[in-house]
Amino acid sequence: MVEILQPEGMASVFFSNDGSEAVETALKLSRLYWKSKGQPRKTKLIGRHHAYHGVTYGALSVAGITANRTLFEPFVGDVYHAPAPYVSHCAFHGPTTGCTYACVAELERMIQFQDPDTVAAFIAEPVQAAGGVIIPPPDYLARVRDLCTRYHVLFIADEVVTAFGRLGTWTGSRYYGIQPDMMTFAKGLTSGYMPLGATAVSGDVFDTITSQAADGPEFRHGNTYSGHPVACAAAIANLEIIEKEDLATNAQHVGEWMGQELKVLSEAYPDAAQYPGCIGLLGRIEIVPGKADKPGQRALRVAQKMKERGVIVRTAQDILTLSPPLIMTKEQGQDIIDALRQALVEEMAQL
Ligand SMILES: Cc1ncc(COP(=O)(O)O)c(C=O)c1O
Repeated sequence: MVEILQPEGMASVFFSNDGSEAVETALKLSRLYWKSKGQPRKTKLIGRHHAYHGVTYGALSVAGITANRTLFEPFVGDVYHAPAPYVSHCAFHGPTTGCTYACVAELERMIQFQDPDTVAAFIAEPVQAAGGVIIPPPDYLARVRDLCTRYHVLFIADEVVTAFGRLGTWTGSRYYGIQPDMMTFAKGLTSGYMPLGATAVSGDVFDTITSQAADGPEFRHGNTYSGHPVACAAAIANLEIIEKEDLATNAQHVGEWMGQELKVLSEAYPDAAQYPGCIGLLGRIEIVPGKADKPGQRALRVAQKMKERGVIVRTAQDILTLSPPLIMTKEQGQDIIDALRQALVEEMAQL
């Protein structure tokens, strides 16, 4: 893992059982890091609207999908939420094709208002997956990385979805050219064949925490099954296959094609589908609700129609999210596009 993550500057990895535990580990490490550095007031955590980070309380507290949260309040304390870089539904400018990075400015205001001496970490998925495949504008992550460096806030990249080829690169951070302080992984680490999570940390984070281990803070954290050897064996075999078969490059090529096809569909049926996007093999398109539809209802009908044609897609309110296997060929991808086109045609006919 450390070899693979050299461009991101990762120096050590802590293994756990799933993505939620990997995030939990990173959040706890961020508070431990600042205590180890003699800055115990730096405890606040900043997440983002629309974020998904898992089901456990720390992960849920930094997450930003209201429907997942409401019934489980109150959350872990000292957690705040910044706006998402959601260009097509911008919290500042509404639907827009331009972007002024107003959400980055707002994050800076938040850090200043909270007092940087009290903020431990900012956590972000490079592309917000479960929230609706929200693809940030190209400079967003670099700008946010910059802010975190300037204000001494640890940057945690939650790569549970975006790593190991999904975006056409080994990690989402590499796609956007950033080096986080910590990274979290699961899913593609074993391609789902065994449960395994991982939290990678930079040399600075590792050294800071371990340098004081003898008489100061040590990492009192770990589950019975953390780093289970069978899961790790599955991960090693899986990563070898991803490397040998160059699946990241396949995801990049097939993903470029899929993105074009989604764009063509949204241009052909603008009253039914809009805001297409695709990055590697992580795609999305929004289904415009019909006049009588509740939010998300028409997207569910489209998903159901696609399922009848053998294609499973997930909906996030009005958005269809596409996350096909990294081995997919264009010919196989055509089945997805054909099923979507037929579902849209049927929807248009019913209006
Ligand atoms: C970005 C992200 N982080 C964390 C998690 C939590 O992972 P798990 O379901 O393995 O606990 C998920 C799960 O979908 C995720 O998408």
